Amino acid sequence: MIDFKKEIANKIAKVVAIDEKMLKGYLEIPKDTKNGDYSFPCFRLAKELKKAPQLIAEDIKEKIEIDKNIINKVEIAGGYLNFYINTKFLTEEVLREISESENYGTSDIGKNKNIVIDYSAPNIAKPFHIGHLRSTVIGAALYNIYKYLGYNVTGVNHLGDYGTQFGKLIEGYKLWGNEYDIDNDPINELTKIYIRINEKCKEDENVLQACRDNFKKLEDGDETCVTLWKKFRELSLKEFQKVYDLLGSKFDSWNGEAFYSDKMPEIIEILKKSGKLVKSQGAKIIDLEDKGINTPCIIEKTNGSTTYATRDLAAILYRARNYDFDKAIYVTSYEQVLHFKQVFEVAKLLGLDEKYTKGLEHVAFGMVLLPTGKMSTREGNIVKLEELLNEAILRASKIIEEKNPKLEDKEEIAKKVGIGAVIFNDLANSRVKDEVFDWNQILNFQGETGPYIQYTYVRTQSVIEKSGIKQEELTNKMVNIEKLNDEYSQKIIKLIYEFTDILVEVTKKEEPSILSRYLIELAKAFSVFYNENRIMVEDEELKNSRIYLTYAVGKVLKNGAGLLGIEMPERM
Ligand code: ARG
Repeated sequence: MIDFKKEIANKIAKVVAIDEKMLKGYLEIPKDTKNGDYSFPCFRLAKELKKAPQLIAEDIKEKIEIDKNIINKVEIAGGYLNFYINTKFLTEEVLREISESENYGTSDIGKNKNIVIDYSAPNIAKPFHIGHLRSTVIGAALYNIYKYLGYNVTGVNHLGDYGTQFGKLIEGYKLWGNEYDIDNDPINELTKIYIRINEKCKEDENVLQACRDNFKKLEDGDETCVTLWKKFRELSLKEFQKVYDLLGSKFDSWNGEAFYSDKMPEIIEILKKSGKLVKSQGAKIIDLEDKGINTPCIIEKTNGSTTYATRDLAAILYRARNYDFDKAIYVTSYEQVLHFKQVFEVAKLLGLDEKYTKGLEHVAFGMVLLPTGKMSTREGNIVKLEELLNEAILRASKIIEEKNPKLEDKEEIAKKVGIGAVIFNDLANSRVKDEVFDWNQILNFQGETGPYIQYTYVRTQSVIEKSGIKQEELTNKMVNIEKLNDEYSQKIIKLIYEFTDILVEVTKKEEPSILSRYLIELAKAFSVFYNENRIMVEDEELKNSRIYLTYAVGKVLKNGAGLLGIEMPERM
């Protein structure tokens, strides 16, 4: 499809002899369409051309060779040049593209670029909680969008399957394992053991030491410890899988922390050689004071066992070697900001090419709050994710039951609506903001929600169905673009045109909410179009044109929501 910015930049470049790409970057989209569709701020060139912006504007306007079929007119407003695109051309382009491409808006700008996304990463033997949900949802959305733009993406579930807590669990299990039914209810029962052994550790220094020794033994390959650890891991994964099934989550790699256990010595060795690894109170640390980070990064504990940070360092080395990443993204809550600051700083000592250390990026997100306050992970008022998702489905099915009791496949639809509502809520606002989890808001069909987008999509489908036009007849050939000249249709056309740009914007900021907001805007634009324009009119050409535009909206809503991980019901 045509790239208007490129087209305009190219024509300006011919007048001013400045790099086209640079000019393209200067182009703005005016807030008010009265000021054109694209605007070029001439003051940006004032220094280089040693001329007043107004004069530059006049000069360009006079000399620029514009194709009237593409750009209607160019106007000067202050130091700006405003470009008005030919709406007929735009309409034709957009609808042809909708008709021709199965995956509207895909691109190959990511070709030959490798992205690693580290997301979800719940901890073995601990509940899969709502913070992991955000990570899973944000990570999956980024994964899908990068892929759609042609990047080569690897999704890694960096499971928390290692660390001192396993020393404790092993000790607790050795002491009281027969009292707990971990086969049937692994997470709950293991959590109970974990709480109990922690209590015991507080009372008895010897037990605490035994726990620490267990983890060291696990790292050294002790058979009993390894067998128990494997059991905990497998049982936990089976339970996590229930959540992943509900969400439809998939990962390319399940290499968790334990995967790096045999890759730690190399890290220690490299860091030693760097001369920065120092002893402090029996532990081995890297001081980061001179990098503006006040807390040192602990690489090896007093008893010789490694840390969460060491394992992340090993993972960076591994990912650089095996995935040759251009970008490695970590999706966790902002509670881990310090951790990643430390790790990314220490990574610079690993002797890796700058390409890799520069490509590391922590994508932090805010807390999930209940209307009543913070959800705590430590104190036990944890909201279990599986329960939460099932509750969402239940609530959705109640609403559907009220609104449309005769609907077929109610269960399947309730699942899409309930899960879609939870996913959308996670992606609706900028990720660093804390999010309030309020059932009434999330499931409001009229609000800015997942169900609202689904509802709008369903409406587009019922318009098509009522028209009696068959799916295979739906092509841009049924459109007379002259009939889509009204402002409501044009608003939609412009939004659809922007789709790929929106996706690119998401990847620039690692911010899926940009796509969520866009889908809301498109759904709203369709509602306005639908209320202002009758679709089933006498004028056959007008009717068909409007139906095709309706179809186009449905297609973009479905594609876009799909990228966020939200499925569309065909009815609701
Ligand atoms: N398991 C960690 C947690 O639950 C998240 C891991 C994030 N990824 C990483 N490479 N550190 O907090």
